[in-house]
Amino acid sequence: MTITFIGHGYVGLVTATVLADFGNKVWVVGHTKEKLDRLKKGDPIIYEPGLKELLQKNLKANRILFTSDYSKAIPESDVVFIAVGTPPKNGGEADLSAVFKVAEKLGKHIKPGFTLVSCKSTVPVGTNIKVETILKKVKSKKAEVAVASCPEFLREGSAIYDTLNPDRVVIGSDSKKAIDKLLELHHPISGKRVITDLASAELIKYTSNAMLATKISFANLISFYCEKTGADVENVLDAVGIDKRIGRIFMDPGVGYGGSCLPKDVNALIKIGESLDIDTSYLKGVVNVNSLSRSNFTNKILNVVKDKKIAIWGLSFKPNTDDIREAPSFYLINELLEKGYSIRVYDPAAMENFKKIYGKKIQFGKDPYGVLKNASALIILTEWNEFKQVDLKKIKKLLKKPVIFDGRNIFEPKVMENFGFSYFSVGRKAISPPRHSEGV
Ligand code: UGA
Repeated sequence: MTITFIGHGYVGLVTATVLADFGNKVWVVGHTKEKLDRLKKGDPIIYEPGLKELLQKNLKANRILFTSDYSKAIPESDVVFIAVGTPPKNGGEADLSAVFKVAEKLGKHIKPGFTLVSCKSTVPVGTNIKVETILKKVKSKKAEVAVASCPEFLREGSAIYDTLNPDRVVIGSDSKKAIDKLLELHHPISGKRVITDLASAELIKYTSNAMLATKISFANLISFYCEKTGADVENVLDAVGIDKRIGRIFMDPGVGYGGSCLPKDVNALIKIGESLDIDTSYLKGVVNVNSLSRSNFTNKILNVVKDKKIAIWGLSFKPNTDDIREAPSFYLINELLEKGYSIRVYDPAAMENFKKIYGKKIQFGKDPYGVLKNASALIILTEWNEFKQVDLKKIKKLLKKPVIFDGRNIFEPKVMENFGFSYFSVGRKAISPPRHSEGV
């Protein structure tokens, strides 16, 4: 099959590369020359484990091609995926202008015969129908076009694995031809097939992300109860999660959810709800708890660390990505800078992205230990594997005061106590030897 992806973000580029690896010919259309040049050379621009190798392999085999020219890609394509950004507008609703602009552009190039067009971008209910209307207006008479919603459920950091092994492949369309085409395309991919109507498929994506955000906020809410009562959130959630109706997965408390999807999609769902006159206070509560998780954690630091030199490990919104969109680290760093703290940071992948924003306002280290010297506390914001079994003795030696704030609960409090750390995590008893209790 010949396929076109318009857009080369996480979803577009990863899915395009995986489909090329199955032997399809895949065009990727972008509009920034510098980025297209890098992609053509095998540089995926984003950091995603395994993507560079897979991209280079398929470039060599001439199965994946990058262009800014719609007239090269669209006329020979059987399937066109729109995978451009749908960033939030000021009010939170998804900005669909790029989707509609692209629809108009691509529609003019659709070949005679059947072409399927599908939004891979996360779009509110009704968007694919609007895309269809645009396509039908601009396409040539001989071109037959149908739309389908085929949402993506990949996570950054494990995007290739998720694309190959989804729990489900959702296909929503009123056109049998469109459904058959997408079933054929997904043939090598595992996962339960869910065939449904367009509106349901579009809503499935928002519902999934809102449910994931709800689980995280629920875990964080319970962590607030634990901190006030002396309970241990990990024990509570472990026990609760044994109930198969609830489950323990995706209920790790911490400094809140970030990234380009969960925050954006929950807010967009609130906006959709408001436009439909639905009470959205439940979803607003999810967002509110997320903000509280960040501010509660920050307040712990502000209350304890009086000598304003700190070190931070982890800037990306989650491990195995250099993506810093809506990362909790932003919130914390901005708060601490405002209060006059001097900050040294280390992250295995996201420092270049952070440098573009903060420049010299914060210092960047080359390795985890390098940022610790003379710092009054270490703050952990992302649970990268390389932080999980560090040399605690060495950390204690390097830090001016043995104080750790762990926003991802990666260490055992008992172990930290034995090493003599003041240790503040999320929803678990603070370990605070008397000598540090009056501020460090
Ligand atoms: C999310 C969804 O998980 C994917 O299924 C979806 O396809 C994707 O959005 C999308 O819409 O494109 P992603 O944003 O890559 O994927 O990251 P997640 O793994 O969902 O993590 C989001 C945030 O939640 C991170 O900041 C993470 O640290 C946080 N999180 C996650 C927690 O705080 N606790 C948890 O238990 C899990």
